[in-house]
Amino acid sequence: MSSYAEEHDDIPETSLVELLRTKAEPALEEALLELQHAHLEHYLADGLPRARERLSRLLTLTIEALESGSADAMVHYAAEIARERFARGYRLDEVQTSFNILQESLWKQLLALLSRDELTHALGLVVAVIDLAKDTLARTYVQLAAKRRDDRRVPSRPYEGKPMDHRPTRPVTGIDLLHDPLLNKGTAFTKQERSRFGLRGLLPPRVSVQDSQLQRVRQNLDSVDDPLQKYLALMALLDRNEGLFYRLLTDNLAELMPIVYTPTVGRACQQYAHIFRRPRGLYISAEDRGHIVEILHHWPHWDVQCIVVTDGERILGLGDLGAGGMGIPVGKLTLYTACAGIHPSRCLPVVIDVGTENEELLECPIYIGLQQRRLRGDAYDELLEEFYEAVAEVFPEAMIQLEDFANTNAFRLLSRYRNQACTFDDDIQGTGAVALAGVLSSLRIAEKSLQDCRVLFFGAGEAAIGTADLLVQELCEQGMTEAEAREHCWFVDSQGLVVAGRDKLVAHKLPYAHDHAPLRTLHEAIVALRPTALIGASGVGGTFDATVLREMANINQRPIIFALSNPTDNAECTAQQAYEGTDGRAIFASGSPFAPVEFAGRTFVPGQGNNVYIFPGVGLGVIVSGARVVTDKMFQAAARTLASLVTDEELERGQVYPALERIREVSAQIAAAVAEVAFSEGLTRTERPKEELVEVMRASMYDPHY
Ligand code: NAI
Repeated sequence: MSSYAEEHDDIPETSLVELLRTKAEPALEEALLELQHAHLEHYLADGLPRARERLSRLLTLTIEALESGSADAMVHYAAEIARERFARGYRLDEVQTSFNILQESLWKQLLALLSRDELTHALGLVVAVIDLAKDTLARTYVQLAAKRRDDRRVPSRPYEGKPMDHRPTRPVTGIDLLHDPLLNKGTAFTKQERSRFGLRGLLPPRVSVQDSQLQRVRQNLDSVDDPLQKYLALMALLDRNEGLFYRLLTDNLAELMPIVYTPTVGRACQQYAHIFRRPRGLYISAEDRGHIVEILHHWPHWDVQCIVVTDGERILGLGDLGAGGMGIPVGKLTLYTACAGIHPSRCLPVVIDVGTENEELLECPIYIGLQQRRLRGDAYDELLEEFYEAVAEVFPEAMIQLEDFANTNAFRLLSRYRNQACTFDDDIQGTGAVALAGVLSSLRIAEKSLQDCRVLFFGAGEAAIGTADLLVQELCEQGMTEAEAREHCWFVDSQGLVVAGRDKLVAHKLPYAHDHAPLRTLHEAIVALRPTALIGASGVGGTFDATVLREMANINQRPIIFALSNPTDNAECTAQQAYEGTDGRAIFASGSPFAPVEFAGRTFVPGQGNNVYIFPGVGLGVIVSGARVVTDKMFQAAARTLASLVTDEELERGQVYPALERIREVSAQIAAAVAEVAFSEGLTRTERPKEELVEVMRASMYDPHY
């Protein structure tokens, strides 16, 4: 029995217990109201119904402890929730604050009912129970944190500056509340909230609900035609009210993803200096050497778990856009939240601005980045090394996604950090997984096995090599040697077929440089190699012309044609061209979205091989399991899971990916598969939860409804 009973031998306190039971409901309501505005981001992330459920359990246990004289059940519960909350990244103070809030609301209820003496006695009892629970919480957290520190691999550097703590010391109220996009609900603040949080007069009098706010935003959005203007309207909403933004995006993902991400985000990055209004994300420049820890400390949220970083050198297929590349991490992270429910406050977009080779930007008087040639060599590597070390120090739980780095740096950075930090490259591994999943689904349509398949890649950069590497891994698991598996992957790049003996082949192409006579064109390569699948990732639009498509259709009953290059203008062919050029027999997917195509009396729905099917789920699995590294096996598991979720009806329409409407469920399933790899390979900092992993993933997702 806990020490609580030993110190309080005058219990059970029947009348107090009865009193608390009668007042349980108002106490709960009061506590919930406080909780919503105590800046407890993770509680907000979980949504009100779950917060109510938890507070109610806590209240019941408090009353039961007073009734039975034993706080064992309460102590047990506190230890259990400490483990669960720690694993999910809640801060100790957040969990404790929720206990305090409950305690205070009980006080308030009792205050009105008891005499001064009775009150002192009653409060003493309530405090004793809740304090015991808080004590258990703190001790469990300390034990878990000590264990996690031991598990960290990257050494951190000392930071002499001010410790980071931007949490407000009291609830955010008044105009500050309206200006905090994470907490702001605008006209949906209730009357009670308006009077409690100093909002009277700061809002028009009529209280709306989120649905009518959505209607308003929708009307505004529909009143503009230009996608870039829609992008600006959406970003402005994100700056005002994140809950509303994410509700809009989640409810209309298929329609709005092309605005917040490719293709429109490409235009936004090109125009970044011109459309710049408010900064979003962190800018770390070549001039910040030695100050990166300090910069990370400037970020207003201190429990970052998901970082997307670019140096802006290869933005989509648009080339070097320097600091304008910030649109990419910002956009990708909105998809992490919309598609996998990673809470917005845990997401950090970063641009590492090392200059640009883009002449236009170097000349542009309003360009927002460093106007100098790109840093290269040791100076570049040292800046990136400092970045990784600083993240390990300031945000030790964070996963780092490398995004749109030029391929020489992307391959190098990935191999340098993949085993010592929690990091991956989306253009290599994410694309690899989404393309592998597309191939696996296509083979279900073509009724072929992967072992019967020869893939010809057009382009031999990050996307193509990443796909081939994962394909090889999959074939090896099916029993092939690596050398045999590689024979299934061939490449054509700007110099023609990649063959052994070609001069100056870069390292990432070497494993795929097979013995063959040099061939100059893609068409020649198709004729010579007779591929089952043609995957374009060259960044050069229109290169799968009628001759290429016809040849693929001559060789295959169901030719697999993927035109992955982004944005839309860079696609190797359009969906229409692919179906028309193969008599409607192509199994087609693209990087940017294409509308359904009517051809020969049938409607074909092209698949969008968008990495969004992979990275949010992988990120959720990595974060929730507390994986220390991100491995290719995880991407392989993600690809298999994704392919398995495509329904027969979808395949029938030519769709090789599940409908985007199901993305949250897809992400939960992928996250569970990734976490399964992490747990079974001993890569996690946390213990495997007792519940089904997919349930844990679903329960971890941020819900933007209010
Ligand atoms: P990268 O720069 O690493 O590779 C491009 C490759 O294309 C290089 O090997 C280059 O030699 C080759 N290439 C260039 N011009 C060519 C030509 N005329 N003929 C043949 N090959 C040529 O770029 P990365 O990261 O591989 O991306 C390539 C494209 O794939 C981009 O447009 C990008 O937006 C797109 N992409 C699509 C994804 C998706 O749909 N899920 C994901 C990642 C990238």
